[in-house]
Amino acid sequence: MTIVITGAAGQIGYSLLPMVASGEVFGPNTMVNLHLLEIPQGLAMLEGVKMELLDCAYDTLNNIVCTTDPLVAFKDADVAFLVGGFPRRPGMLRKDLIQINTKIFLSMGQAIEAVASNNIKVLVVANPANTNALVTLKQCTRVPSKNFCAMTRLDYNRASAQVALKLGTSVKNIKNVIIWGNHSASQYPDPTTDGYVEANDGTKTPLSSLLNEDDEWLRNEFLTTVQQRGKAVMEARGKSSALSAANAAADCVRTWLVTGTKPGETVAMAVYNEEGHYGVTKGLMFSFPCECKDGDWVVKTGLNVNEFGQEKIKASEAELLSERDAAMEILNNNGSGSSTKKE
Ligand code: NAD
Ligand code: LMR
Repeated sequence: MTIVITGAAGQIGYSLLPMVASGEVFGPNTMVNLHLLEIPQGLAMLEGVKMELLDCAYDTLNNIVCTTDPLVAFKDADVAFLVGGFPRRPGMLRKDLIQINTKIFLSMGQAIEAVASNNIKVLVVANPANTNALVTLKQCTRVPSKNFCAMTRLDYNRASAQVALKLGTSVKNIKNVIIWGNHSASQYPDPTTDGYVEANDGTKTPLSSLLNEDDEWLRNEFLTTVQQRGKAVMEARGKSSALSAANAAADCVRTWLVTGTKPGETVAMAVYNEEGHYGVTKGLMFSFPCECKDGDWVVKTGLNVNEFGQEKIKASEAELLSERDAAMEILNNNGSGSSTKKE
């Protein structure tokens, strides 16, 4: 398989590369060609990372290409992790962040359209992840929109871990926590609509029965801890989450493309909302509970979201609509509107 990782010399890249190269994501029997994309300033560091990857002597690593040319990176690519982007600097407005990244992801989408495999699967990690993914997929007519996903698996892992801590149980027993909406502070982490604890003997206890008595914790401490986790890690480390983000990217792609979800289980993925699920505006990249099978996802439908949850979902939808409008205005002003292939 040919796997693209953009921003490969960055922090997340440094943690993600060993997971992909060692077979941890695609399994021990799949040989991978790594196509690593950087900007010119990152290339020298990327060459150092390449030396280290070679020195790991992974059985499953076939070939490494380091490049600054998206057309080289995406050539015949089967899977892409889009990690490279422009980071938010102190004092920078979200609109400025969207402006710079929209241009970057326009060029990612154009390269995918030009040279990638027809069935390439794309995970967008770089922020603003949902809107970057939307900009990318809109450049592609050959590749179906369902092949794009923006990462909310880190939020899902964070939320599941907080619930496990609260209940004093192992995180492996916590199932079907939902992340609704944007990978941002407006997201709605929701353990009680569909979540449950699965005991070792298979008994399932709904999280609603275990946590609803503690509404105060659910609606305040839990919510803000998950929504603000990225900021908290950044303040503590002086750098944004990298190990946990790489781990989540590996988890997301492994579940989506390799293992699938177990029957009845869901994971969080921000996907193209073609159907208008849960009343959310069609055409946004929105995080929903997803079931994965045979390399595809479907949104789990029919869940009963309470009024509090519906308000939170609306708030995240409103943020995504304003991000979408800002990005589309930039594409149009940039003269790229006409190359926006999907309406
Ligand atoms: P980083 O700054 O350490 O690395 C980013 C790398 O991308 C740099 O090496 C840079 O040179 C490269 N880059 C920039 N523009 C590029 C382009 N046009 N093409 C190719 N490479 C390019 O940042 P990081 O800590 O690795 O984080 C990467 C991104 O992931 C950031 O946008 C961050 O906000 C985001 N992030 C997302 C999540 C999530 O859950 N979705 C979690 C953590 C971080
Ligand atoms: C995170 O959730 O840790 C990141 O998205 C934070 C960031 O802005 O990089």
